[in-house]
Amino acid sequence: MSEMDRRGFLARGWKASVAAIAGAGIWTSWDALRPRLPAGFGTKIKTIAADAVPEDDVVEVPQARAYLTKVKGEVVALSEVCSHLGCRVPFCESSGQFECPCHGSVFNRAGDFISGPAPRGMDMYAIEIVDGIVEVNTDEFITGTAPGTETINEPARGPSCTESSHG
Ligand code: FES
Repeated sequence: MSEMDRRGFLARGWKASVAAIAGAGIWTSWDALRPRLPAGFGTKIKTIAADAVPEDDVVEVPQARAYLTKVKGEVVALSEVCSHLGCRVPFCESSGQFECPCHGSVFNRAGDFISGPAPRGMDMYAIEIVDGIVEVNTDEFITGTAPGTETINEPARGPSCTESSHG
């Protein structure tokens, strides 16, 4: 190998090592920061008996990242991921509504948009009832209802959980 070939070979090897280290660093950062989805997410997830889903409250099913409730007697699965920018939306027991802590979007128990910056109601998942058990299909996403939709007429039943933090 001539001196020039040797230098070219060493320079290429050095660049390849730097690229490999940078690539490993980027992968490690992405792996550490990417959102963790519950095991089984993206498939049909067996949850609870349809009979156990409340008519006037919600039940969280963390493995499906969803809430179950009944709307006009039918079970619905609402995605707990805010339709605004993706924060987890908790259900406020005192108001009986979903209240996003990030930018204050509010949704009623059926997931209809009430107020805030969210562009629509809460998104949903398709469900199936198999042998009396609700299966949430986390692979079949249903876009939330348009603002102005009133699937149920349930005004806030009490004080908001986030009012104090949003003035
Ligand atoms: S992420 Fe929920 S209101 Fe912005």
